[in-house]
Amino acid sequence: MRVIGESRLQEKVLIIGIDIGSTTTKVVSIEDGKVTRMIKTKASDAVTAATGAFGKILLENNIKINAVERIAITGAGASKINNDIFGIPTGRVNEIEAIGIGGMFLSGMNNIIITNIGTGTVIIESGDNGISHFGGSGVGGGTILGLAKKLLPIAEFHDIMKLAMTGKLNQIDLLLGDITDTSISFLSGESTASNFGKMLDTATSGDIALGIINMVYQVIGVLSVFAARARNYERVIVTGNGSKNPIGQKVLSAITEMYGIEFVYPEYAEYTTAIGAGLSKK
Ligand SMILES: Nc1ncnc2c1ncn2[C@@H]1O[C@H](COP(=O)(O)OP(=O)(O)OP(=O)(O)O)[C@@H](O)[C@H]1O
Ligand SMILES: [Mg+2]
Repeated sequence: MRVIGESRLQEKVLIIGIDIGSTTTKVVSIEDGKVTRMIKTKASDAVTAATGAFGKILLENNIKINAVERIAITGAGASKINNDIFGIPTGRVNEIEAIGIGGMFLSGMNNIIITNIGTGTVIIESGDNGISHFGGSGVGGGTILGLAKKLLPIAEFHDIMKLAMTGKLNQIDLLLGDITDTSISFLSGESTASNFGKMLDTATSGDIALGIINMVYQVIGVLSVFAARARNYERVIVTGNGSKNPIGQKVLSAITEMYGIEFVYPEYAEYTTAIGAGLSKK
């Protein structure tokens, strides 16, 4: 005999969070407040991205469509979806809110700055007064890809990273040691005086690849530090696909040494926005 009460209870707990980013779409399933599955896809338009990714997470995990209580969508593409997806109640969550909720959930911390490195970069404050948009920069993963495509020319992220591993920054960047024999304030001779300000004729593709990644993460790192200092926080939680970059993490750890602000990289940080959408009560 089918126990309707129990069955309905089971059907009520599954929420799907969808983050339609500028480049990739992330989908997570949330059951009883726990993240149970995560997938990433890429599609050219928002509707295909959202419906395709939703279908994928259901099919691959043998989830029945009527088990989904609601869908929460967010990200740049969310505004393109104005109706319920497949008749399931579909709500839109503000992206700033989603990153804030997801960042706190994954890091287990609050009173933090969250720097989401996606195609571009957004900086969020999550403190006693709630979640707010601190600011951001168009410098992000898209900047690395765009510059690499023209300057190297290489289009795949993996290949850019491989090449950058072979690079030397002193071929590209003007370092403080190149222009002065004394240290300036807290800056050593190894500090950057000007990104791409040297650009020797002997610079290789590897040097340029490293110079691009270094510049992007230095800009993001310093902006994050200024945000943290302005609001008296000691930590910056780094999220988005850009949080997974090993060279970027090294650049940020050099910034920690200079400024004393710690960067934290939660596991599954590329799913932060989708998780935050799914966990949002709105
Ligand atoms: N290892 C990596 N390091 C840095 N960037 C990366 C890495 N892998 C992919 N990217 C870049 O990350 C970007 C996509 O990241 P993400 O999925 O977080 O962004 P998005 O949500 O699509 O964009 P946004 O949040 O800005 O709307 C792309 O520009 C991609 O090139
Ligand atoms: Mg994003």
